[in-house]
Amino acid sequence: MLRHIARMLLPGLLGFGLSACNTGTTTTDPSLTASGWTWSLPAFFPTPKVPENNPLTADKVELGRHLFYEKRLSGNGTQSCGSCHLQAKAFTDGRRVAIGSTGDLHPRNSQPLHNVVYNATLTWANPALTRLEQQMLVPLFGESPVEMGINDSNKATVLDRIKADAAYAARFRAVWPADADPVTYEHVIQAIASFQRTLISGNSRYDQYLRRETVLTPGEERGMQLFNGEQAECFHCHGSFNFNDQIVHAGSRVVETPFHNTGLFNIGGTGEFPFPNRGVFETSGKPEDMGKFRAASLRNIALTAPYMHDGSLATLEEVLDFYAAGGRNITSGPEAGDGRRNPHKSDLIGLIKLTNQDKADIIAFLKTLTDEQFIHDPRFADPFAAP
Ligand code: HEC
Ligand code: HEC
Repeated sequence: MLRHIARMLLPGLLGFGLSACNTGTTTTDPSLTASGWTWSLPAFFPTPKVPENNPLTADKVELGRHLFYEKRLSGNGTQSCGSCHLQAKAFTDGRRVAIGSTGDLHPRNSQPLHNVVYNATLTWANPALTRLEQQMLVPLFGESPVEMGINDSNKATVLDRIKADAAYAARFRAVWPADADPVTYEHVIQAIASFQRTLISGNSRYDQYLRRETVLTPGEERGMQLFNGEQAECFHCHGSFNFNDQIVHAGSRVVETPFHNTGLFNIGGTGEFPFPNRGVFETSGKPEDMGKFRAASLRNIALTAPYMHDGSLATLEEVLDFYAAGGRNITSGPEAGDGRRNPHKSDLIGLIKLTNQDKADIIAFLKTLTDEQFIHDPRFADPFAAP
């Protein structure tokens, strides 16, 4: 997949990562930073890291919101980023795996976008994707699977649709006043990335509890203690303020990017996961990376079913049963094999010991991580939705 994208990039369509292509206008024109950006962050959240060549401004974020929900930005005009990333579901889509604009099945489950600005690597298992601008090439231009379906033959047409819209033309001009022709893919991507960086979620009941604005029920509180203890082990991989273990922020010095095999598969007892969902192995080819995925953020987890990279666990109950068993034993079919014995499985998973009451309490705690304000925030909503 990335090879296809790299090929599309070579003609110079986009300059990300190829530093010379950055014109510098974004950092030197004072009018661009004039509108500026002030974070209003939840308590205990560090200041996000924003790339110097794509500073946040209110106008750019608002343009990015429109483009995020813009169906004309797909090859056949049927799909936007928001088609697979729905605000009501913390920007997931409720499907087992995503479906692209031309009907391609994506091999993986759509990911939530809350607090995505803090993710040190992006997607389920790709250590090389570290910036939102870079990740976006995948849904926009990816060919296997097709998501938005922009390709060499339609990329000019797609951009012309945006250029022809006077309201968009004005928005692009306002953000990049020094550019004669500001409607470019580079700017589309910068604007959408800026919007995504503002998707901060930190007002769940749990956050309110931390701020001493509310109390948890005894069951929720017990679930929280289990989550943070050595019997359930959850916190080892989901222990940050964002309930994952890969965080980057403005003050980061060392950024750790661990990936873990949780024992979901062990095809034929060989340790194999099914292609093309073999985790970091897909890009590294190293045997020890087989089945290693990024620990997901558990914020808003009650809204983001089904679960895991392939959407193969339907409910939180199934997820807790899976962890309590120390992995998944598939007894028949082409994927048969006892994941509990996967040779690459993290040692922590085997240590998990949970009674039925423990599981219920952990689920009760996980449900306190839902941020109702986030999923109803008009700043993140679809501007084209019928009122
Ligand atoms: C066809 C459905 C679909 C569309 C359309 C789509 N996405 Fe996604 N998105 C996914 C899936 C599936 C993943 C997980 C990909 C993977 O792991 O390989 C994902 C992952 C992501 C991630 C990584 C999140 C994280 O936590 O690392 C970001 C960011 C993202 N998408 C942004 C976008 C943007 C921006 C657009 C529009 C330009 C977009 N997506 C369009 C399905 C979609
Ligand atoms: C060794 C690290 C590790 C430990 C310990 C761990 N997890 Fe996970 N968790 C992961 C990884 C990695 C994933 C993604 C796996 C995949 O998609 O294949 C994940 C996924 C999940 C998901 C699904 C997220 C989603 O968006 O689909 C939930 C829910 C979850 N974990 C809850 C827990 C709970 C509760 C505990 C403690 C009982 C726990 N985890 C312990 C690493 C861990």
